[in-house]
Amino acid sequence: MRAVDIIQKKRNGGSLTNEELSFLIQGYSRGEIPDYQMSAWAMAVFFRGMNAGETAALTMAMAESGDLVDLTPIRGIKVDKHSTGGVGDKTSLVIGPLVASCGVPVAKMSGRGLGHTGGTIDKMESMAGFRSELSREDFIAQVNDIGVAIIGQSGNLAPADKKLYALRDVTATVESIPLIASSVMSKKIAAGADAIVLDVKTGSGAFMKTLDDSEKLAMAMVEIGTQVGRRTAALISDMDQPLGFAIGNALEVREAIDTLHGRGPDDLTSLCIALASHMVVLGGQAGSLEEAEAMLREKLRSGEALAKFKQFVAAQGGNPDVADDATLLPQAPHIVEVPAPKSGHVHAIQAEELGLAAMLLGAGRETKDSVIDYAVGITLQRKVGEEVREGQTIALLHVREEGAAVQAVLKRVQEAYTIDEAAVLPSPLLLSIVT
Ligand code: URA
Repeated sequence: MRAVDIIQKKRNGGSLTNEELSFLIQGYSRGEIPDYQMSAWAMAVFFRGMNAGETAALTMAMAESGDLVDLTPIRGIKVDKHSTGGVGDKTSLVIGPLVASCGVPVAKMSGRGLGHTGGTIDKMESMAGFRSELSREDFIAQVNDIGVAIIGQSGNLAPADKKLYALRDVTATVESIPLIASSVMSKKIAAGADAIVLDVKTGSGAFMKTLDDSEKLAMAMVEIGTQVGRRTAALISDMDQPLGFAIGNALEVREAIDTLHGRGPDDLTSLCIALASHMVVLGGQAGSLEEAEAMLREKLRSGEALAKFKQFVAAQGGNPDVADDATLLPQAPHIVEVPAPKSGHVHAIQAEELGLAAMLLGAGRETKDSVIDYAVGITLQRKVGEEVREGQTIALLHVREEGAAVQAVLKRVQEAYTIDEAAVLPSPLLLSIVT
């Protein structure tokens, strides 16, 4: 077999066999197929696409390029959740303990933030003492013991995807639905869950800007799951404005805790319930989504989900008292008000811009090696649909020190808001479900 023939076949619109795709991925992983041939192949896929069988075969080849996590020592049906990345997305912090309190084991590997998106691991580490590195044995024992553990992704999970993704990034081949779908699913499959619930974000702050593309991506990922025997559901949710009010690590932990207390923002609460309902059904603890939702609301009302959060934080070395006393979380020394530049109704909030603004304050990483400040970030005071008068506060900046750089961020936050005279309704949060 020769890489050049495989590239030519795809360039001419042919379908690749499992053997051809394995040859390509294995050869690339071992350094036998050079970047220039892989780039040419990725570009051919970009223009010609891949059918469902090819996409599943590529996914499995990439999953098998590294560790395949064995979660079989954990009792029960393990259900993972994955978000395609948004701004203010702290759902995993709520859903992990919430779903575990319903008897579905959550053995989750999460990532760190980069650029405008945050990462669950950074958020959790804003709780002093929290350990996101556990040995495989401790990880499994903790899930069997209390039902939930969340750790950082192992370095050797789908390494072929890591290499290919970096190549796609510099060869303008990221925006291909089969390549994105196989990239995401290869990591989820390698992470070992029996079933997967995907939160596909759509809108200004998301990877996929249109509902049509988001649905295509969701369908491609559900199809991969089906083909490789992992039950998969995908929910498409709006990312035309940040989720909840808080952007920034400790600020988001605080909002997640509020949600577990039952007093979180409506959008965040409903999205957590929707995703968690699918997880509870796939995990076999409820016969229908309605039954799952009732169970989840009761776990929030009764305080069982919050108690599970405390157990989880304590098990991983953090102080569980943060759940009752938010002042134990890092807090920024200064708060700067962002005034509305004009009167009217909020029509849109560019989520990506706010993610970048929070990053510039120090909440996120500009490069992989940037050091982050857990305390800083942004809390929104007005969201889409709300009325505001000129000069009223639309957002608060939580900052380490005041100065010109903060004023530049303030301007950026103002510009991220579209304020217009006409009244407007926010778009629905949950746009579509693919199963
Ligand atoms: N996220 C991934 O993990 N892979 C992609 O290809 C795009 C987004």
